[in-house]
Amino acid sequence: MCGIVGYVGYKDAESVLTVGLHKLEYRGYDSAGIAVLKDGKIHVRKKAGKIHELERYLVEKNLPKSNIGIAHTRWATHGGVNDTNAHPHLSQNGIFAVVHNGIIDNFSHLKGYLEKQNYHFKSDTDTEVIANLLEYHYLNDRNLTKAILKTVNELEGSFALAILFKEDDDLIIGIRKDSPLIVGLGENENLVASDQVAFLQHTKRAIFMDNGEITLVRRRMVEFMNFSGEPVKKTYVFLNHGDDEAEKGPYPHFMLKEIYEQPKVVMTNYKIYTRNEKPVLLRDLNLRKLLLNKTRIIIEAAGTSYHAGLVGKYLIETFANIPVEVDYSSEFSYRRLAADSRTLVIAISQSGETADTIEGLRNAKRYGLDVLAIVNRPESTIARESDYVIYINAGLEIGVASTKAYIGQVQVLTLLAMELGHIKGLIPDEEVIKMIASMKSLPEKIEKILLLNSHIEHIAEKIYTSDNVMFLGRGLNYPTALEGALKIKEVSYIHAIGYPAGEMKHGPLALVDERLPVVIINPKTSAYELTLSSAHEVRARNGRIISVINENDELMKEVSDYIIYIPEVEEFLTPITSIIPLQLLAYHTAVLRGCDPDKPRNLAKSVTVK
Ligand code: G6P
Repeated sequence: MCGIVGYVGYKDAESVLTVGLHKLEYRGYDSAGIAVLKDGKIHVRKKAGKIHELERYLVEKNLPKSNIGIAHTRWATHGGVNDTNAHPHLSQNGIFAVVHNGIIDNFSHLKGYLEKQNYHFKSDTDTEVIANLLEYHYLNDRNLTKAILKTVNELEGSFALAILFKEDDDLIIGIRKDSPLIVGLGENENLVASDQVAFLQHTKRAIFMDNGEITLVRRRMVEFMNFSGEPVKKTYVFLNHGDDEAEKGPYPHFMLKEIYEQPKVVMTNYKIYTRNEKPVLLRDLNLRKLLLNKTRIIIEAAGTSYHAGLVGKYLIETFANIPVEVDYSSEFSYRRLAADSRTLVIAISQSGETADTIEGLRNAKRYGLDVLAIVNRPESTIARESDYVIYINAGLEIGVASTKAYIGQVQVLTLLAMELGHIKGLIPDEEVIKMIASMKSLPEKIEKILLLNSHIEHIAEKIYTSDNVMFLGRGLNYPTALEGALKIKEVSYIHAIGYPAGEMKHGPLALVDERLPVVIINPKTSAYELTLSSAHEVRARNGRIISVINENDELMKEVSDYIIYIPEVEEFLTPITSIIPLQLLAYHTAVLRGCDPDKPRNLAKSVTVK
């Protein structure tokens, strides 16, 4: 979604900001803009389209050299995609320039009020209202702090803001409410951004702002206050992201790089969450006690995280005998909850910033329910607002379509299910030790699957012109079918459906003909025989079968047109091994269709609007 970066220091602001914008590109956007302050005047350049459109425009229409500025990538919400609606937005008299992530819910009311005060609006955005409201209050008594406080307290909705003030060329105002904003601390330079990737090149010291905080960022000083104007003391953290994490390295795309990082993710979690061949995810005794008291779990998540949640349901129910429901965050957050204190809510989110999932956790809290978060980003809103957090340790994920984070989520849920079953006495010691030993060999098995990359590319060549693809799986691999379909939809724009193999005969079978590629996920599991029957049903209707199966599977081979052999693993680990070829299939299909898998059209890495 939208991205913010602001710089004040001694370097050329335009270049720092355009590099920062490129780093934010992965989040998804449809226009970009930049503003710098020079000799008491704010200069703005903005363009609909990709950042290179803006860069071309900057060549045509130079910005003056400056050491202070703000920039933005916009993902349209209020008002169409055009140059005028792009950020930054200047206030009517050019006193303030504002970039904004989020949505102002009461913007039409505020706009109406400002229009009565002779403010004229150029754009259709809610952001221009912020710029004008701030200016209106400032012009009242020329007290900046008062104007900022008045403005933030009148705004309803979610907003992360970076603001330039034409009367001070050593000041960027940053404001956070329900949308992330981080301050990067440098030497004689400071930055502000909605995502640290935008400033990692300059500094790794960061202060994560909390909701309801304002920061005044200067070259040599950063101050914080709350929305009542009281000073707030903050401490910085050192970001331990590697320099190369936000870089593609030798890979043509982040998506491919991240697919190849999956053995590392599995190994990292294995090392962190196991000791002496036992899972130790529940080291926190309070969390352990809490979980043992729960008789029901509701998982809320969106997109790929929702699919990980479905795998979690199968495993927690099987290993720990606790009933689990999985709900889309966008549904869960707006419905009445029939739940009592023995219900645990698990919020799963890679980014920890998905607005619907945040709303879901707040809804759960309103009902007095305990919330456990499973997230990738430690500093995220979901991590901060939940009662307990388990991290998936996948590192920065840049590709919009989630891959390595999914593997991390599924692995952590697997360990959680296993540990719960173990401490409840449902899985004996020796069984747990065996299971953990199988998990230990997983990275090696994933490496083997990655060796199939060119074979999978050839299969992609057979399907990339198709209009539809169907994915079938059963039991633990029904979520794999959903995730496989989602991946191909997201990055190659081919319509795809994922279906439980057994349910296929109740409808989707009507779609099957010789043109339809049907991907059947059927490694050796307890669902094998039944899934094989579904494969026969597809075959009998001349569907083209691409199967993801284990070596030496003659029965599936007979019905398959193309085969991806994956190494055999214990059933509970098959969701991890079987999704990897499907990620590669989606990736290659996208590339063959000329789509950019890292930045699919209309999508965003973390959806920060409801
Ligand atoms: C967006 C992304 C998906 C992601 C979903 C949930 O739709 O494009 O890749 O799965 O959000 O994101 P989260 O960060 O909450 O896991």
